[in-house]
Amino acid sequence: MLAIDDKDFGTPERKSDKLVTLEVDGCSVTVPEGTSVMRAAALADIAIPKLCASDSLEPFGSCRLCLIEIEGRNGVPASCTTVVEPAMKVRTQSERLAKLRRNVMELYMSDHPLDPFECKAGGKCELHEMARAVGLEHVRYNHGGRHHLALEIDDSNPYFSFDPTRCILCSRCIRACDERQGTFALTIDGRGFDSLMSPGQHQHYSESECVSCGACVQACPTDALMEKTLLEKGSAQRAVITTCGYCGVGCSFKAEVKGDEVVRMVPNKNGLPNHGHSCVKGRFAWGYATHQDRVRKPMIRKRITDPWQEVSWDEAINYAASELKRVQAKYGNGSLGGITSSRCTNEEAYLVQKLVRAGFGNNNVDTCARVCHSPTGYGLKTALGTPAGTQDFDSVLASDVIMVIGANPTEGHPVFASIMKRRLREGARLIVADPRRIELVRMPHVEADYFLQLKPGTNVALLNAMSQVIVTEGLANETFARERCEPREYKMWRDFIVQPRNAPEAAEQMTGVPAEAIRGAARLYAKGPNSAIYYGLGVTEHSQGSTAVLAMTNLAMVTGNLGRPGVGINPLRGQNNVQGSNDIGSFPHEFSGYRHVSDPQVRSAFEREWGVTLDAEPGLRIPNMFDAALDGSFQGLYIEGEDIAQSDPNSQHVAKALEAMEIVIVHDIFLNETAKYAHVFLPGSSFLEKNGTFTNAERRISMVRKVLPPLAGMEDWEVTCALSRAFGFPMNYSHPSEIMDELARLTPIFAGVSYEKLDRLGSIQWPCNDAAPEGTAVMHVGAFVRGKGRFMLTEYIPTDERTTPRYPLILTTGRVLTQYNVGTQTRRTKNVTWYAEDRLEIHPHDAEQRGIRDNDWVELSSRAGSILLRTELTERLQPGVVYTTFHYPETTANVVTTENSDWATNCPEYKVTAVQVLPTSRRPERRTAEHILHAAAGR
Ligand code: SF4
Ligand code: SF4
Ligand code: SF4
Ligand code: FES
Repeated sequence: MLAIDDKDFGTPERKSDKLVTLEVDGCSVTVPEGTSVMRAAALADIAIPKLCASDSLEPFGSCRLCLIEIEGRNGVPASCTTVVEPAMKVRTQSERLAKLRRNVMELYMSDHPLDPFECKAGGKCELHEMARAVGLEHVRYNHGGRHHLALEIDDSNPYFSFDPTRCILCSRCIRACDERQGTFALTIDGRGFDSLMSPGQHQHYSESECVSCGACVQACPTDALMEKTLLEKGSAQRAVITTCGYCGVGCSFKAEVKGDEVVRMVPNKNGLPNHGHSCVKGRFAWGYATHQDRVRKPMIRKRITDPWQEVSWDEAINYAASELKRVQAKYGNGSLGGITSSRCTNEEAYLVQKLVRAGFGNNNVDTCARVCHSPTGYGLKTALGTPAGTQDFDSVLASDVIMVIGANPTEGHPVFASIMKRRLREGARLIVADPRRIELVRMPHVEADYFLQLKPGTNVALLNAMSQVIVTEGLANETFARERCEPREYKMWRDFIVQPRNAPEAAEQMTGVPAEAIRGAARLYAKGPNSAIYYGLGVTEHSQGSTAVLAMTNLAMVTGNLGRPGVGINPLRGQNNVQGSNDIGSFPHEFSGYRHVSDPQVRSAFEREWGVTLDAEPGLRIPNMFDAALDGSFQGLYIEGEDIAQSDPNSQHVAKALEAMEIVIVHDIFLNETAKYAHVFLPGSSFLEKNGTFTNAERRISMVRKVLPPLAGMEDWEVTCALSRAFGFPMNYSHPSEIMDELARLTPIFAGVSYEKLDRLGSIQWPCNDAAPEGTAVMHVGAFVRGKGRFMLTEYIPTDERTTPRYPLILTTGRVLTQYNVGTQTRRTKNVTWYAEDRLEIHPHDAEQRGIRDNDWVELSSRAGSILLRTELTERLQPGVVYTTFHYPETTANVVTTENSDWATNCPEYKVTAVQVLPTSRRPERRTAEHILHAAAGR
């Protein structure tokens, strides 16, 4: 068990090669130049009383509690704002200092409610701790004078409250919002005695710009800002370090627990992806884990129209296994398959693919990354040799130019966005390429130098044109390109890229972005000197998703922006373990570590370890599984933690395919949309209920630790083992660490990974092996993983999806901060306060032409189907483009998306669908899985 609180050193660490030695209370201390006296003292275990200082914020010097005496100087300076000097002699304790500090504390306490020595924070409030530390025993001033004790509590945020009577105006919350989060939502309102900390201009939290990241709550030294769960449940008794179960940033958290209940999730200060920061999802939206909708008992049914029957684990597992065996005997080995989850752990995904390859005897395993980042894998592996992002997150702090393309970090990857915003505030330049005006284009203290508002589906044309500018204007890094890349391919690519069809003027016709803006952005990127690309699904989910990834690698290679901090090509991965589920071998053509199933050496290593003969042929991808189900040859599917009926394209096609199968096993925490078509439902365990690892977007493997017992009694890896045993392929592990050991034995990039090392180091970025025993932050240093980098020809081919008079608009899709993916988790939290339904964003011009107003119900139809939504009129989009999210099953946005997909990987083209939008008097039916279940059960 961990200590709940970390030591706070008062001011942030300073990095310098120059060291300074000073004396604090007679102790000699040596620290880097620029360090504060407060931090130097703390490093020598000398605690100076403090209130407004914290080592996660720049010093401010407002509370006057941290006073010190310095030999040879008059006065009592604040130790938090005083920087160390050589041979300085500091005294932190004296009669004079003690009296001054007691007087300061007494004044704070005199304007604090009721019993000044009790607080709501359960004895953990710094104010009271400091009162004790300075020896304040009573307050001489009564409450008869002017005070702030009648102010009202702001309860408007669903997760925390602000009690201004307990505020000491230390500004820690304001600095946390500015420096850590970069939202600038808080201020000190008024002057002198009337000053108050306030969200916005005298607003409630809910009316302000606040995005509920929780940084201010964490920073508050009193109980003025407090989590409501802490107020309701009381203080925690223990803490467990684990990893957020939401997005690919993979923030590290301390789960604080009381009995068998989580009291709060606090971002881990020592967490390397997040350095103690969080977003609203990981920090507050964990209530779904104990939501009443969680399925706690396994269930079976013969037909999908029958009501579910609750059964024991044994009965469910045996039924599922016998059905799989029956189908296999009837239709052959190739008739079964499995889908691994990017929400489950590496170990769990590994077991599912092992069950398919070794148990079912084929390679029919795929994962939800098929529908998001499979082009990343293909493109980066082809050009560089490794299908993963090239940098660690902190690398962005060394970037001079940041290009964000097809990603919306402030909504999708908020904690990484905060690191990026910090670098932008420090002066890095910004290029944003997106069909939609995302928040980063202009926000407090951040403004893009170039906003390239391209038409959906034209990324490749834009990227090619940028490369042409670089080559034709002599901005290429010829030394890098010639020394580090294949010369023949480089020459071929140069010949290709200078063709007139790749000129900015030609691109202007295709993308809608002015040629001059393309030129300007290209010059900025080329001149860096350190330029980094960050991208998301707006690049990959296209018919040319893989081409666009290759076009970005061309751009980075021709400018030499690879192989050092501050540069690189970085996919922002959507789900918590999308990187990991790919790494461990979830694709039908690859074993773990991205090695092809046809490679006899690799295959024989797995055959030796698993004791079976393995198929050398790649198996079916998800869309091929659906096609095979419809032609009758694919009849059994085990789906772990993935709602394919809602998240895969062309939902009607998916539904028909699922209906056609004889045995569908859904293993999930909720009865999702896919469960409508299932014969067996195996209740899953949430991230709080199991041990394992997740791998985030920077290749960082982090521990997921069991905080609570699994609600349904079994962790997911135990369920897959049981199913495999019952099917006839025994799997015997006593702990997920043994699964990781097996993965490490079989996979060169994980060769040095173990739970012992993960516990010791906190986290590890792969590759981790003899050459890099503690992992690898930046890849391709000195040479590419494949040897020489490979320039690829990236001809722009417009998508087949075209607008017509019948479907004159282009629909593109995305996410919002407060919801996650298909919303299964976040819809079961108070996050619905901010986003209770998917909306259709439409430009006022397009709306007016159709007689549509803000908030009207409209029918959105495409060649594939139609859905009903309400509108939001906005100029974030250009006329001709509409946008929606897909967080709610009522919307089923994937009903309208088409079957077009990336040429190399089948990743669906979610980002481009020709649609029409018309007013309607119809209203959507509520189509949640629960509704379907009840209907099916005749209730
Ligand atoms: S919760 Fe986050 S965004 Fe909101 S005011 Fe606090 S620090 Fe700022
Ligand atoms: S709310 Fe807390 S952190 Fe903010 S100024 Fe008041 S006491 Fe300081
Ligand atoms: S940024 Fe992602 S990983 Fe971090 S707290 Fe938010 S959802 Fe969790
Ligand atoms: S802690 Fe130094 S002035 Fe407040």
